[in-house]
Amino acid sequence: MKITIGSDHGAVELKEEVKMVLHEFEDVRVTDVGTFGTESVDYPDIAEKVCADVISGKADRGIVLCGTGIGISIAANKIDGIRAALCGDVYSAIMSRKHNDANVLAMGGRVTGIGPAGEIVRAWVCTEFEGGRHARRVDKIMALEQQKYS
Ligand code: RB5
Repeated sequence: MKITIGSDHGAVELKEEVKMVLHEFEDVRVTDVGTFGTESVDYPDIAEKVCADVISGKADRGIVLCGTGIGISIAANKIDGIRAALCGDVYSAIMSRKHNDANVLAMGGRVTGIGPAGEIVRAWVCTEFEGGRHARRVDKIMALEQQKYS
């Protein structure tokens, strides 16, 4: 599985920890699109880089990180084809895969500790989409991208 990861300045440390967890998986290949320092960057730019890889097929899934995980998950979900799940616990991470087929995981470097984040990532990487009735609902989510309300 190819995973592209990115963070803003609010989660650079967490990004390094998450990469170490991903390296536990022999079949996971990681691409890091930055940022790499403490200088302030804009999280929508990072979301775009990660999600572009997912949509183009360069990555199977993405992981996006910012201070809270909120801004970068909102940005990621603006991109057609992305289903980003902001997770702060293992149960949500598992359900985001089983029921929502989340192709992007978002977390907050200032809210989720390194230990819990590692468990979230392990669960999220290993869990498959259940399909069935959930596929119908995911299809409806994706159809919302085509709706115009004005
Ligand atoms: C950056 O200071 C901060 O706003 C960002 O990391 C994130 O928390 C936004 O949602």
